Amino acid sequence: AKLLVLHGPNLNLLGSREPEVYGRDTLADIDARLSQQAQAAGHELISFQSNAEHALVERVQQARDEGIDWILINPAAFTHTSVALRDALAAVAIPFIEVHLSNVHAREPFRRHSYLSDLAAGVVCGFGAHSYSLALQAALQRLAPA
Ligand code: DQA
Repeated sequence: AKLLVLHGPNLNLLGSREPEVYGRDTLADIDARLSQQAQAAGHELISFQSNAEHALVERVQQARDEGIDWILINPAAFTHTSVALRDALAAVAIPFIEVHLSNVHAREPFRRHSYLSDLAAGVVCGFGAHSYSLALQAALQRLAPA
């Protein structure tokens, strides 16, 4: 099967961005590990990062034509703002898992609300880069063996 990992704004800065909150792994480190994890289970994983809302919306739309089976998404700040990203995920109807490095419930109150969570198959937050691996593990478990 094919899985797509989407990373929202400022996640290109991982490694140097507020490391006490987001950890020291770079996005390339995280993507490489996820890709290995998917391959070990016989599946393919594609990653995409953008700082632009429209680019993420377009990537979600494209996922349907590509036959993507699962999406893992860390929408970053768009979690708390983007009706457009929510609508795109609802439109393609591809199951997805919402991922956050930090525990968004233990931070500023505005981070507690997500426009995506109620549509998600599940949400993983608070485990740093490991949040992504846990989400991938959950998605892989729901896929038939390749
Ligand atoms: C984040 C949490 C968001 O509130 C924040 O805007 C981010 C990253 C996380 O992974 O912890 O950019 O999604």
